[in-house]
Amino acid sequence: MKRRLDQLLANLGYCSRREARRGFGGMRVAVEGDVVKDSAIKVEPDTVTIDGEPLDHPDGILVLLNKPIGLVCSHDEREGPSIYGLFPGRWRRRNPVITSVGRLDKDTSGLLLVTDQSQLVHRLTSPKHKVPKVYRATLSRDLDPALIETFASGTLQLEDDKAPLAPATLTIREPRVAEITLIEGKYHQVRRMFASQGWHVESLHRERFGDLTLGDLKPSEWHELPLTTFADKQG
Ligand code: URA
Repeated sequence: MKRRLDQLLANLGYCSRREARRGFGGMRVAVEGDVVKDSAIKVEPDTVTIDGEPLDHPDGILVLLNKPIGLVCSHDEREGPSIYGLFPGRWRRRNPVITSVGRLDKDTSGLLLVTDQSQLVHRLTSPKHKVPKVYRATLSRDLDPALIETFASGTLQLEDDKAPLAPATLTIREPRVAEITLIEGKYHQVRRMFASQGWHVESLHRERFGDLTLGDLKPSEWHELPLTTFADKQG
């Protein structure tokens, strides 16, 4: 679909609309190979080049990140270093801006999706869609198999929550290591679930989100996913 050039470049974080009007901030902008000066023309995004390069993700962004421990999932700089610093600077100036699909705590590592597709964020974080998320938790003392039933019951209600949690699946892998599968994503949910039963989570890592896993990605590494990754899913 054709879009106004100044608006397109501003939305993709290249420059403000004002800068676009005043010579594109010094960038060499071409449409179908011909350099243009008029920022108000309507263009097909895939015909535009900036300094000879095609536009950066004009249709949207979806990436899979292995979130390292120590970074927050917030755009508020007062909260400290964030995952957004791992991506090209221009992505933070996009409108809509990139955002994580749900959040992982500063002290939690693992699989995190980041996108500028707000509908996708909504769909993947809504408990209605029951996307399973698998976490590996290391506890400070040996697990009790009775936790399996407690977490699966659908009646466990955490302090300050208004409703019980949806059933969660707990698999004990080692005396102090468990895998837990959730279909919702409440604030600090895994840590609070274990704490409610008297266990302290020493480390927490998300291994899986729906059908997606980290593969060989090292902490802080990310790779792109096709925007159609969830297209075949309901809703
Ligand atoms: N549960 C937590 O306690 N923390 C996370 O980051 C994710 C799930």
